[in-house]
Parts: sequence; C-alpha cells; structure tokens
Amino acid sequence: MSSKPAEKRQVVRFAFYKLDSTWRRLPAERQASAKLEFGETIESFAGRLLLRPYGLVGIRGDCDFLLWQVAEDLDSLVALQTALNRTDLGAYLALPYSYLAMTRRSIYEFPEDPGQPSRLVIRPSEARYLFVYPFIKTRAWYLLPKAERQTMMDEHVRIGRKYPSIRLNTTYSYGLDDQEFIVAFEGDNPADFLDLVMELRESQASSYTLRDTPTFTCVQMSLWDMLDTLGGAGSAQATSRRPTRADGYTPVATLADLPAGASRRVYVGGDAVALFNVQGTVYAVANRCTHARASLSEGSVDAARCTVTCPWHEGVFSLETGQVLGGPPSLPIAAYRVKLEGDTVLVAPPSSPAPAEAREPTVAPHS
Ligand code: FES
Repeated sequence: MSSKPAEKRQVVRFAFYKLDSTWRRLPAERQASAKLEFGETIESFAGRLLLRPYGLVGIRGDCDFLLWQVAEDLDSLVALQTALNRTDLGAYLALPYSYLAMTRRSIYEFPEDPGQPSRLVIRPSEARYLFVYPFIKTRAWYLLPKAERQTMMDEHVRIGRKYPSIRLNTTYSYGLDDQEFIVAFEGDNPADFLDLVMELRESQASSYTLRDTPTFTCVQMSLWDMLDTLGGAGSAQATSRRPTRADGYTPVATLADLPAGASRRVYVGGDAVALFNVQGTVYAVANRCTHARASLSEGSVDAARCTVTCPWHEGVFSLETGQVLGGPPSLPIAAYRVKLEGDTVLVAPPSSPAPAEAREPTVAPHS
C-alpha cells in the first residue's frame, strides 16, 4: 500500500508588541544602542525564519508593531522570542497579542487560482498593508453537510475574486491556539479591503462566524523604519554606531549571510543598502528605488545582465553602476563600493572621484 508523502507545513506566529512609554525617557545613547541590539538580534535569525516587521503606531493604541514569523518548526519561534526577551528593548516590551497557526491545505475545493499563493508555504508579497484577525466559526457550521459548506465557500471565493488587489493567507490554529484560523490579507489599498469585508458580511457563510476580532491594520516597513516609529533616538543614529573604519568601509554581513543568489538589506551610516551576491560577485546599491521607494533588496536579479528589477513597478537598475536601464524611474541609485576581507563583506559609500572603484565588483572566494 502506498502512503502519501508527508506535506511540509510551516508554523506561523503573529506577535504584536507594545512598548512601555518609560523607554522613551531613557537617555538617547541607551535608546540608540537598544534599537541596534534589537534590530541585529532579529537580523541574526534571517536564515532560520521568515520575519516581516509591520508598524501599527498611529493605527492602534494597544500595540506598536507586529513581527510576522514563519518557521519550519516551533523551536525556531521559541529561540527568537527568547533572544528578544534578553535584549535591553525586550525588557520594555509587552506582548498583548500573540497568535500561533500552521499552514495546511483547505478541505474545500477551489478551482485553480494562480493569483493566490500555495497554502502550504507562506510567501509574503510586497504589499504595503497587512490586515490580520483571528477567526472562529460556530459549531453549527461544522454540523452542516460538507456540500452545503462548499456552496457557501464558493460564494465566499466569488466575492473575493472581485477584489484581485487583495491577497489572502489563511493559516490554521485548531488545537494549537485559541482561534481556528488566522487570516492575513495583503493589499496596497485599505479601501479595497474595507469594501471586500463589507461585502463578505452579506454572504451566507458570514452567519456562521463566531468571532473575527480584534482586527489589525499593519503597515509594512523596514525593520529599522519600524524601530523609528517607536520614538526615542533614531535607528539611523543606532546604525551609524556600527564601526566604520578609517578607510571608510563598514562590515555589514558575512558570505554565510549572503550565499550566491541571495540578497539582503543592510545599513551603512543609517542608509539602507541592498546587497546582492550574483554568481559569487557581491554588489551593493541604495536600497530605495528612486521611483516610489520600493525596497530593491526584494527585487529580482537578472544575473546575465547584472540588473535588479524593482518589485513594485519593474524599474530596472544596473547593479554595477546604479543607472536606470528600464521602467518608470528617471534617477539612478547610488552604487556602493564593496570589498571582501575573508568571509566579511565591507561596504563604503560611493566616493567621488572614484567611479572606477565604485563599479568594481567583488568576487566572493567561495560561493
Ligand atoms: S517603486 Fe520602483 S519602479 Fe516604482
């Protein structure tokens, strides 16, 4: 008898943090070092978890930021929170909401929808907003014949397809946490989401909802931008404390953090810089697209042309020179100088006049 191979699932945590206001009265120096320590602690988990920061300052009063965490095992979630608890900033953070869930396939049949992601693997998009809430259905729902539930789910999906700009990630919490699902919708326009939810209220399935609050509207931003929303000394100040050497170079990563084909965002003197390892050669360019400030470290790389394509509107930049090669941007991005010392990647701001050096790629010795 053949048994079905076990499907790989992911564990997912939505952790909402609230900063104690007494932290804002600490000396600026301590605030800056606390942000640096906290940010670097999160970055140190980059290879182990998928971690997305979102800000809620100015949106909700009971939490300041969300860390959306996706891992292959529960131990990774425990390790991350343990490390955060040990930081100086962690001593001032409360966790008013924390939801645990897991990916799985739906029991309902949906015609193939290429616009929606696989339910087993979480792949967040670059959408500006994330709308999150826990969800519980009534027990009466589960007593309905499955065909009847499928009909109601079909209506639900039909309504959802009227709003293609909204992308849904459904994760399951049965037996793991208090709710049955955590739903997380991604989108660039809160008005689209509002209209979708309003319309779903009129669907038949909606009468079987037991609970779908609290609802969190979260703004995607870089880790350091998110830390800046907390107030206190800026993270730009914190990152500028990283050692810059007499030659102007700052160590920003190791090749272990940046294997061939990988990219990541780092900070140099408070500026966000996108690092790319293109077939063993490391390039560094300003992280913000000059068109509408998308994060280029999330863009796609064409190794043959040595370019990065912006994830938002497909602006194309040369990784060697920063020049615009296509799409809507009209201004180039800065191309940073890069060098390797052993396994360490060092970056320096573009210097003038040294254009030749700025364009000189750095080949990783082992990639
Ligand atoms: S934000 Fe990069 S092309 Fe528009």
